[in-house]
Amino acid sequence: MSCSHYYLPSSAGDSAFAVDSQSIVFGRGVVAELGDHARSFSARRVAVFSDRRVRDLASSQRALASLRAAGCDLAVYDEVEIEPSDRSFLHAARFAREAGCDTYVSIGGGSVIDTCKAALLYATYPAEFLTYVNRPVGQGLPPPGPLPPHLALPTTSGTGSECTGIAVCGLLSTHAKVGIAHRSLRPSRAIIDPDFTASLPPNVVAASGFDVLCHAIESYTARPYASRPRPERPTLRPMSQGSNPWSDLGSLEALRLCGRYLLRAVCDAADAEARQGMMYAATLAGIAFGNAGVHIPHGMAYAIAGQVQDFRLAGYPPDAPLVPHGVSVVVAAPAVVRFTAAADPQRHLDCASALGAPTRDVPPTAADSGACLSACLVRLMQACALPNGLSALGYARADITKLVSGSAIQQRLLDNAPCLVEREHLEQLFSSAMTCW
Ligand SMILES: [Fe+2]
Repeated sequence: MSCSHYYLPSSAGDSAFAVDSQSIVFGRGVVAELGDHARSFSARRVAVFSDRRVRDLASSQRALASLRAAGCDLAVYDEVEIEPSDRSFLHAARFAREAGCDTYVSIGGGSVIDTCKAALLYATYPAEFLTYVNRPVGQGLPPPGPLPPHLALPTTSGTGSECTGIAVCGLLSTHAKVGIAHRSLRPSRAIIDPDFTASLPPNVVAASGFDVLCHAIESYTARPYASRPRPERPTLRPMSQGSNPWSDLGSLEALRLCGRYLLRAVCDAADAEARQGMMYAATLAGIAFGNAGVHIPHGMAYAIAGQVQDFRLAGYPPDAPLVPHGVSVVVAAPAVVRFTAAADPQRHLDCASALGAPTRDVPPTAADSGACLSACLVRLMQACALPNGLSALGYARADITKLVSGSAIQQRLLDNAPCLVEREHLEQLFSSAMTCW
């Protein structure tokens, strides 16, 4: 752990951090409790968001049966797109508005949970799409009032969306990823059942597992909250407030679980202990980054996923090119940690150590700690048979300028990095990320 002066406030920096706690139920078989939880929110008519693959899972059917047994009337929307766009967000919102529901349930991966957040926001407070989208692309306005209850049931061990107030989609007019972020978008309760992950293909476990790993590394290495300028008013303190002692706990434990279980969970679908361990890692990392924020790898990932031409990965729908979110993040990560290590070498060694790498003899210098964590990531990527960098996703050096432009607009994320990130740095990082080994 870094020395205690890490969080001493600077004269202009913030002197406090905020924790938005999450209501969570975690355990095998808890989908059967959904009806009772919905009843505790006085649910009568429930909008259920899902996709067609998830809808047919036995665990999903158990969830719906539990809602019906609790006397809930259901309106099911199963048209969520795997990489949602502004169009699909608004389509889902139209469904929700017309269905006239008082409670929302999402059963799926990050795309489903994010779509449900957007649907309940735009159905409750209709507005032009960019009204609630983060600046500088949108106006970044908060929801005008309270939102209806949302119970989120994640089916992949990855995004942690069930623990955050963030919804991400692609903006069709610009091919850029944009986010809608506000505390009130955080689901009212996360009901997390590791049994959902038993049927996931290896590539899906790998991609979502590396997303977890990057959430944890980025939260732990983000700019310390005490160096972020004080908010104008205390209630304007951002969710992406930077690394803080609360998020550190979840990040380090999530990394320890990733080091122990990620490869096992990818290689053996029958390894229930490993798949449950990754589900808990996803939860912890979600809580961590929901209160700290992520930074450069996610900022680069939005451009990498948004500009893909022809990449497909087994285990994902084959009908359109797609870089799974976790893959788009982790291909950037080895280069990024070598870059950010100078901001706090010890924190980068902490991450490597939590992942299980031997670090006792590694000098806590920028070069050595960055190389150590980068090598640790690469070893795990190789073991999980991940694509070797941007070139394996179909990108060439000629694409770097457009990739830089696509990530330079992710100001909220780049501002959360532990060091200044300018275009020239992004150019170097994308260049380094062409191959990871
Ligand atoms: Fe992510």
